Amino acid sequence: MNNPTEKMRIFSGIQPSGILTLANYLCALKRFVELQDAGHECVYCVVDLHAMTVWQEPVALRNAIRHAAAAFLAAGIDPQRSILFNQSQVPAHAELAWILNCVARMGWMGRMTQFKEKAGKDRENASVGLFTYPSLMAADILVYHATHVPVGDDQKQHLELTRDIAIKFNHDYRLDFFPVIEPIIEGETTRIMSLRDGTRKMSKSDASDYSRINLTDTAEQIAKKIRRARSDPHPLPGSEFELTGRPEARNLLGIYALLANSSMESVLDRFGGKMFSQLKSELTELAVAVLEPISSEMKRLADDPTELDRILGSGAERATSVAEPVLQKTYDIVGLLQSRRP
Ligand code: TYM
Repeated sequence: MNNPTEKMRIFSGIQPSGILTLANYLCALKRFVELQDAGHECVYCVVDLHAMTVWQEPVALRNAIRHAAAAFLAAGIDPQRSILFNQSQVPAHAELAWILNCVARMGWMGRMTQFKEKAGKDRENASVGLFTYPSLMAADILVYHATHVPVGDDQKQHLELTRDIAIKFNHDYRLDFFPVIEPIIEGETTRIMSLRDGTRKMSKSDASDYSRINLTDTAEQIAKKIRRARSDPHPLPGSEFELTGRPEARNLLGIYALLANSSMESVLDRFGGKMFSQLKSELTELAVAVLEPISSEMKRLADDPTELDRILGSGAERATSVAEPVLQKTYDIVGLLQSRRP
């Protein structure tokens, strides 16, 4: 279905479940902007319904939705060229998710590592939403008939499930209706790790603020977090081979390469044999140079919530005009009466 000459339609989303991090920027937002600037049709979403799968304080959630929207804009998403909105304003996502819940199998959901990690040992107490989360994610994508989905490596399994759901739907109803999407997980570094532990991913919800760099951190905070980042006692490796067993070195060098838009090879050439302290001081300088314009633009946007709400509202109208016909067609395919919404 997805031949290379076909027009790509991009969809991706970010949860407003805390302050966005450097990982969200490097492996998601930065790529979203590149795809927009390459002229693709892009739909980008603040997935607020997903954030609710774990408890969110209502006032904090409302702020986080606007904060995430500000991050998209500050990173370079242009709401004229791309569709930018928040999920709950387009009910077609939740409606299609119900239908896809009836297509997806319990066994498929039970294998999702993110559910296992987030639910932890207390599975009985996890919300049902946390378990069925991947159906909503599939609905987010399929309700736009998106063809390509840029994400970090941690979302790969969810996108495989989206493919399985689309294939099963098409098979059950003997139609070629939903595109079998292609993940876009490109580059040498597709997973950014915690600054405190190179074997765990950097996450907005990690208990330690020192594990991550937030997009709103000041230059001093960035410097302090990088200075305190875990390292090992050896000089930095100079080749891909020597990175084996050195997760902290790999992580900091990988972050440097992404921020500098350079290859891992050239970063290894530059820092091979040097001490962590040198990498840390150059990394701080680079991170501050890249993030400072983004955080100051986010601050400016945050001062005008009315304007942010207006942008999200107009994005939601455009998103609805794409999603609603797909939802109505889905109702028709499965044998429901099409609703007569205006
Ligand atoms: P979320 O909000 O956790 O993360 C948003 C984006 O940032 C990427 N990311 C990372 N990449 C590399 N290293 C990390 N440490 C790291 N942390 C986060 C994520 O891969 C993601 O691209 N389920 C999704 C949101 C979602 C979605 C969708 C994405 C809902 N519906 C439809 C794509 C399409 C999530 O929780 O992302």
